[in-house]
Amino acid sequence: MPEREPVTFQLDGRTVHAPAGTMLVDAAAMHGVEIPIFCYEPRLGAPIGACRMCLVEVEGMRGLQTACSTPVAPDMVVRTQSEPVKQAQDGVLELFLGNHPLDCPVCDKGGECPLQDRTFRFGPGTTRFAEPKRHHPKPLDLSSLIALDRERCIACFRCVRFSQDVAQDRNLVFEERGGRTYIATASGEEYDGRFTGNVIDLCPVGALTSNPYRFVARPWDVKNAPSVCAHCSVGCNTELTAREGRILRVTGRPQPNPAVEEGWLCDKGRFAYPATFGPDRITTPLIREGGEEREVDLEEAVAYAGVLLSRGAAPGFLLGATATVEEGFLALELAARLPNGTAGRLGVPSDGLDVLRALPAAELGDIDGADLVAIVGGDPANAQPVVELRVRKAARRGARILVIGPRSTPLDGLGGRVRTEPGRLVTCIETLTDAVLGAASPVVLWDEADLANEPQAAVRLAELLAGRAGARQIELGGDASTAGLRALGIPAGLMLGQAVAQRIGTFVAVHVDPTDGPGGAEWAAALARVGPIIAIASHRSRLTDRAAVVLPALTPYEQEGVLVSMTGRAQRLRAGAPGPGGAAAGWEILVALSHRTGKPLPYRTPRQVFAAAAEAHAAFAGMSYDTIGDLGQPVARPAAPAEAPPPPAAAGDGLLVVPCPAIFGDATARRSDALAAVRTPPRAWLAQDDAERLGLNGDGLVRLASPHGEITLPAAVDPRLRPGGVFVALGADGAPGAESLLPPDRGPVRASVARA
Ligand code: SF4
Ligand code: FES
Repeated sequence: MPEREPVTFQLDGRTVHAPAGTMLVDAAAMHGVEIPIFCYEPRLGAPIGACRMCLVEVEGMRGLQTACSTPVAPDMVVRTQSEPVKQAQDGVLELFLGNHPLDCPVCDKGGECPLQDRTFRFGPGTTRFAEPKRHHPKPLDLSSLIALDRERCIACFRCVRFSQDVAQDRNLVFEERGGRTYIATASGEEYDGRFTGNVIDLCPVGALTSNPYRFVARPWDVKNAPSVCAHCSVGCNTELTAREGRILRVTGRPQPNPAVEEGWLCDKGRFAYPATFGPDRITTPLIREGGEEREVDLEEAVAYAGVLLSRGAAPGFLLGATATVEEGFLALELAARLPNGTAGRLGVPSDGLDVLRALPAAELGDIDGADLVAIVGGDPANAQPVVELRVRKAARRGARILVIGPRSTPLDGLGGRVRTEPGRLVTCIETLTDAVLGAASPVVLWDEADLANEPQAAVRLAELLAGRAGARQIELGGDASTAGLRALGIPAGLMLGQAVAQRIGTFVAVHVDPTDGPGGAEWAAALARVGPIIAIASHRSRLTDRAAVVLPALTPYEQEGVLVSMTGRAQRLRAGAPGPGGAAAGWEILVALSHRTGKPLPYRTPRQVFAAAAEAHAAFAGMSYDTIGDLGQPVARPAAPAEAPPPPAAAGDGLLVVPCPAIFGDATARRSDALAAVRTPPRAWLAQDDAERLGLNGDGLVRLASPHGEITLPAAVDPRLRPGGVFVALGADGAPGAESLLPPDRGPVRASVARA
């Protein structure tokens, strides 16, 4: 964004400066003067001046002005503390409180409520209203996640504007007028969507509160810690609220990260935390020996695991979706110190895509300045949810949006939609070329898994972007751990082959059950061919049920470390709560294991581990916890590979399986009881032509069979789809979905489709 010229003006008798165009409320804040607000929230769009809380005097202008919608002008004379201003503030607050129920002692917002705070700081101290206040039935469930106390609402429009303009689900509306105004859903049904919880953070008065957090804690008996979300690769900045060792709430940070999430969270990131203390949380270490199972303390379990590791040759460390950079580094170090040790990660082998990764990259914040936003493959609205809000914001300000790929996605309605045949992304490059060449500032988002399956499309895309000065790219992909582990050089796809070839002795699973995901059946068979299994895990799984040692791990809500987001931003994970007494952080367990194997790693804190990783790995050169700070720091980009890999051939017969990510579908989110009501079971969607050809009329059950497994799912026809694929939910709840059909590396595969 170009720098704006500074403007000089008078603020309460002082001569001050602010960039041209700055609203008075922000210009005053820059100089330490607080003008109270309620409706003003720049992330919702242009100010609407609805609440009148921010009235100030501007010399030469008739009446008082709303500071939230009045930009600074040269030589303006502004008074924020004068008697008329004070009278206006008293009047506005008196009016709000005329109907507000003053149930602060039982209101969840009490103690962190802008209305409460501003009433104390700017309010009249008394009221002239003697009339009875309005009453509504309360609380209502706006949804299973959000409680609505209608009479607390001050009609600031924040939630309605979020729903209408930011998420564009367009479901929240005001009903009635004047003092009778109340919030409702346009549909009359529950408020459903992928981002609904943001209205809780936005509401300045406690009319909208979190159902899972309702009556759980008060602000003065909790601790808040800044952290990052580990439920997908976006890396949204969060604030964790905890009491007595438990995470009780996840919200956006008071100071959002403009480069990443801009203060918004998806409902998965916000409401998955109850899984941390769900019934399948592992709190006690276990040893299984000679057909018997013993609960032991952590020290004994680590000692036993150390014996297993020292005894067997060729240990293999497999890292999962939430492993931190520190844990990846320690696994590498330990593997290097033990005879024939290896370390790998789950995920898509996609080193060939470094040809794209090496090109000029954008952060999500850069989408704000783009005039073309093209999405090639994937479904970010479900797989990297917060990306959807940035793309909608770009569309709102007039940027051209191009959504290219085979799936139906929630972003389809935003403009140019190029629907490709399944497995034929390459056919879109011509359209994309015209769009990119015609744009001044294009940003192209591309999906890791889709482009790894179509390297020829990746090469064409890379050529196009490399030849267009100013074009930037963003990778959509992986999990919270993927980019960090990749930057350490930890390969995906390696461990399964090693296990199948019986080249792994002791198998150490760090935050992962590989049998619960694509290629689960292959992994289950391969694990029968490895030596004893050591599971470092926070929750029970098929793997922990058969492991020789189970070492209870802290979750990402409870531990320190660094995660690298999909845009290459290293960010600090911080412990919101200490977690259960019997558990330890993955990095701590790995260090303890190193001592028990006689190959001690010399680290006592995650900070020291990260410093060593930064020393050893070029991607993190010069970085430390301090340089990463609160808002993160980009890691170095990889070099482009010399050659693109050959295109993988799709195994099997029938239709190409197109996995369709489900937003509430990661291993932890599926355990959250708060999200139980909003999850949807998996389905198989077909194009009209394919459904007719196969004699399916789009309802009932279909049986899908690929070389990797079989499933039976309810069928549905989506007339927008191009023929040639069966579109199967991935990560959905209630029944196995695409993971049962896909190979472990998520490579292309075909499935036969028949009525069940
Ligand atoms: Fe978490 Fe991803 Fe949702 Fe952000 S978009 S809150 S990182 S799951
Ligand atoms: Fe300015 Fe509401 S904050 S009118």
